[in-house]
Amino acid sequence: MATDKKRDILKTLRGEHDELRTLFKQINSTTDRAIKTREELLAKVESGLLPHAKWEEDVFYPAIRDRADRDGKKAIAEAYLEHHAVESIVMPEVKASEPGTPEFAGAAKVFGEQIGHHASEEESTVFKLARELFSAAELSEFDEQYEQWKGSAAGVASVGAAKVKGAIKTAGRTLA
Ligand SMILES: [Fe+2]
Ligand SMILES: [Fe+2]
Repeated sequence: MATDKKRDILKTLRGEHDELRTLFKQINSTTDRAIKTREELLAKVESGLLPHAKWEEDVFYPAIRDRADRDGKKAIAEAYLEHHAVESIVMPEVKASEPGTPEFAGAAKVFGEQIGHHASEEESTVFKLARELFSAAELSEFDEQYEQWKGSAAGVASVGAAKVKGAIKTAGRTLA
């Protein structure tokens, strides 16, 4: 298969990190009165973050881990755990708080800090590793796969499932 050498999964993922960084900056600069803006920004964060994280977990991290040495495997283990902590603790906490409150502002700030930390570490360790382990043609193929996956039934279904899981956790917390 002919690959487009200009495509690069690492550029795509880094670009998505930057979009998330921008969204969190915007959320952090809202006041407690900006309920609708906060809801809209949070929805944008979710729709950007969920496919990105799912694809990394299901496709990209396993592919890197397969070729990585011990330190590389450790970096992948860290990345998985950071995803898990955000998905199971931080994100449900944000979604369980009312957007017009200081509690939301505090939780959203932690959410942004966690994502910022994870993205920076991923860029400096995982992406660096991927650049060493994969050829330019392979990184280009990953980029095409990712785009197709995002538009596919499998991509939509896995993101939908993650959203439902988050909603159930949120409901459970509200009742507790
Ligand atoms: Fe990640
Ligand atoms: Fe990422």
